Amino acid sequence: MKLGVIGAGTMGGGIAQVAAQQGIDVRLLDVRTELVQAGVDRIRGFLQRAVERGRMSKADADATVGRIEPTVEFSALADVDAVIEAAVEDIAVKSQVFRQLDEHCPAHAILASNTSSLSVTEIGAATKRPEAVVGMHFFNPVPLMALVEVVRGYSTSDATMDRAVDLARLLGKTPVRASDTPGFIVNRIVRPFYNEALRILGDGVADYPIVDRIMKGVGFRMGPFELMDLIGNDVNFAVTHSIFSQLYGEPKLRPSFRQLRIVQSGNLGQKTGRGWYAYDGSSAPELPTIAAEPLMGPVAVVGDSALGMDLASALSAAGLETRVWSREPPRAATSGVHGVASIAEAVSGAALVVEAGWSRDTKREMLRDVARVAPRTPVASIALTVAASEAASWHANPSIVCGFAVLPPLADAKVVEVAPALQTDPAAVKAAESLAVAVGKEPVLVGDGSGGVAARIVALIVNEACAALMEGIATREDIDAAVRLGANYPHGPLEWADLIGVDLVYAIIRGMHEELREDRYRPAPLLRRMALAGWTGRDAGRGFSTF
Ligand code: NAI
Repeated sequence: MKLGVIGAGTMGGGIAQVAAQQGIDVRLLDVRTELVQAGVDRIRGFLQRAVERGRMSKADADATVGRIEPTVEFSALADVDAVIEAAVEDIAVKSQVFRQLDEHCPAHAILASNTSSLSVTEIGAATKRPEAVVGMHFFNPVPLMALVEVVRGYSTSDATMDRAVDLARLLGKTPVRASDTPGFIVNRIVRPFYNEALRILGDGVADYPIVDRIMKGVGFRMGPFELMDLIGNDVNFAVTHSIFSQLYGEPKLRPSFRQLRIVQSGNLGQKTGRGWYAYDGSSAPELPTIAAEPLMGPVAVVGDSALGMDLASALSAAGLETRVWSREPPRAATSGVHGVASIAEAVSGAALVVEAGWSRDTKREMLRDVARVAPRTPVASIALTVAASEAASWHANPSIVCGFAVLPPLADAKVVEVAPALQTDPAAVKAAESLAVAVGKEPVLVGDGSGGVAARIVALIVNEACAALMEGIATREDIDAAVRLGANYPHGPLEWADLIGVDLVYAIIRGMHEELREDRYRPAPLLRRMALAGWTGRDAGRGFSTF
């Protein structure tokens, strides 16, 4: 197997390195001798460090570098079986490169581009063999990132797709298949992680260190603002902008002018020493710590949600007398808590009412009923599908209602967002904070807004994944694998939807749409259809896992 690699920069160097490490002979081409040489020297440096750490023998490192033949001549590619192009992201440059590849590479060779944002179809059209042109989108740093998106252009043949998939495997990577759409799989589906975080900041729901804290609390390795600083705010903004414009202004993906401002300011992130955070050794902004009072029972949980039942179980496990009123008595009976027959029975003598409904109608009805029988008992109301201020307005005494949000499944969450309504008085905020601590979570204070922070961002990631599935961009398995491996998310977005509950994801998005009235928050039709079909994904029922 002989592989040509075009461009000896960050990505081309990484691809050449992993290929040579797998025993493949590589021709590494760049525009000038000193550029290819610098690329080879960088690879030698990486391998040298692996030798120093005892991960590789010196002989292996030498043999690996020995398999890379530097060149500036396309004629050196006359005997390759495949080429992966990783030159600059410019359609004019790539078209010119592919014309030369077409001229010099053997007829059987497949020609792949590592483009992250250009059209594989357009690149293929520069050649006389568009059926042999394919996208192979690697992730940075190539030696560490397992994923390759194998992208089918309009004219790419099945045989070329299969050979690109085999090549990715030969390089030790996990390939997924994607169609030639802006952002392919990963870059499109992860956009809301950054974009919605910026929007939450813009809407005044939470400041950036709080958003980062909350997102790490649901299993992301880095918060969105930390990650934007690592990627570079300029690069991150450019990717969002490119996908947004290629989709002719798709509102779900509209970039944030706040991010543009930070780019214009020159605070690009870690590489300039300052972005959202400072990287000059000064201390990070401190998060306010909340000293919550212990929660005194009994606690009444009223609602129709799986999350309500999980909260009731957690409260009961914490030794609090917990009574549950639900329309689904079997669940209450199995969750080891005391199920009761009426709201009045649940809330009588309770120190706190936890209102855990999803649908607006149920919430309104329950809050009215609770207010009738226990008008002075503080209420913690789940604010995933309506804003806390709206929920509070349904209670006769709104000042004792405080919103809270937690992304199911409860066991996986480390934080509970405490979201006071406009009407909430401080004592009710304290009660909601105590609830968070009683169920073993860290309370984090945020502003009011339907969906809170974590659920808002994750629901929109799921929505984008669902749209991608519906549009046939990739299979369910490939979408999940791509996002797990390419973005290191704790779950693939469609697996995650089943864990959260497809019906709840849909209700969260509808709640945001109701409050914000923007097309940005329109649910993917497939998500809606699944929710309406009762395919919640929970409790091993039908959902994305059976789709
Ligand atoms: P880079 O700037 O580090 O390297 C590009 C290399 O291509 C340079 O050495 C340049 O001299 C060379 N080059 C330019 N024109 C050429 C030509 N006509 N023929 C041969 N070589 C030429 O860029 P990087 O980051 O390695 O990106 C390369 C490609 O990979 C781009 O298409 C980029 O969008 C894509 N990509 C980049 C990722 C990243 O995180 N950096 C991730 C995934 C894809």
